[in-house]
Amino acid sequence: MTAFRLDDRHVVVTGASRGLGRAIAHAIAAAGAFVTLVARSEAQLTETKTKIEASGGAARVRAADLSTLDAAAELARDLTTRPVHGVVHAAGITHRADAQDFDDEALRRVLTVNLHVPIALARELTRHRVGSTPCSHVFIGSLGSSIAIPRAIAYTASKAGILGVVRSLATEWAALGIRVNAISPGYFRTDLTADLLDQAAELARIEQRIPMRRLGRPEELGGAAVFLLSDASSYVTGQQIIVDGGWLAN
Ligand SMILES: NC(=O)c1ccc[n+]([C@@H]2O[C@H](COP(=O)([O-])OP(=O)(O)OC[C@H]3O[C@@H](n4cnc5c(N)ncnc54)[C@H](OP(=O)(O)O)[C@@H]3O)[C@@H](O)[C@H]2O)c1
Repeated sequence: MTAFRLDDRHVVVTGASRGLGRAIAHAIAAAGAFVTLVARSEAQLTETKTKIEASGGAARVRAADLSTLDAAAELARDLTTRPVHGVVHAAGITHRADAQDFDDEALRRVLTVNLHVPIALARELTRHRVGSTPCSHVFIGSLGSSIAIPRAIAYTASKAGILGVVRSLATEWAALGIRVNAISPGYFRTDLTADLLDQAAELARIEQRIPMRRLGRPEELGGAAVFLLSDASSYVTGQQIIVDGGWLAN
């Protein structure tokens, strides 16, 4: 089953310092890719790298604060000194407030990190790509790509927007040999969701709504990521894979 392997591929994972991005980076490295790990925390990225290497994988750390477009452009220039075969755009943030109280700075911040910067990073990587290296972009959606997340208008807008980005880039870049898809996770326990899932009543409500009756485990996203980055998905573009224990089907 070599189609599911990523040997000799260079894959960039943003948000690789913790949470879902870190778990995805592990899965990609285990499938044979050399992984560039990107986030702000150099110490946590180094922890990810050390664990990948301890399992026989290969990775490097590239710290970057992806809250500005300039940082995305600088990162892309730096990354394209070698061919990039895949990118997982997992860096993301949220902000919870009632819609009528949502302040402009929070709106700007969430839309920038979750939507604008990933678009800019993908664009710059394509502008500066080495030769005609085929590439697979995997954006991270959410239940918010399909339905409203309570008290999170900026997050919901950003994740709904990600599907538009996926469709636009997939159609524009198919001729360039670049595939673009999304993985949309349901509920997983990470720093992003801790405030919600640490409330017993909220957790019970959420688990009750999930047909599988449990949260996802971050490593359960690895299969979808490896699939979308590998030749196993060579004819798949413009799609999202929903990994939610059945939430949206319910
Ligand atoms: N957890 C869930 O249930 C869930 C569900 C659906 C979708 N998602 C999505 O999955 C992605 C990862 O979320 P998570 O749950 O793993 O959250 P997390 O544990 O809070 O991790 C967020 C990651 O993004 C990085 N990041 C945040 N701001 C950044 C910035 N300005 N520059 C560079 N990196 C930045 C963080 O690294 P540093 O702090 O080191 O920069 C960290 O690695 C997000 O897009 C999120 O929307 C999560």
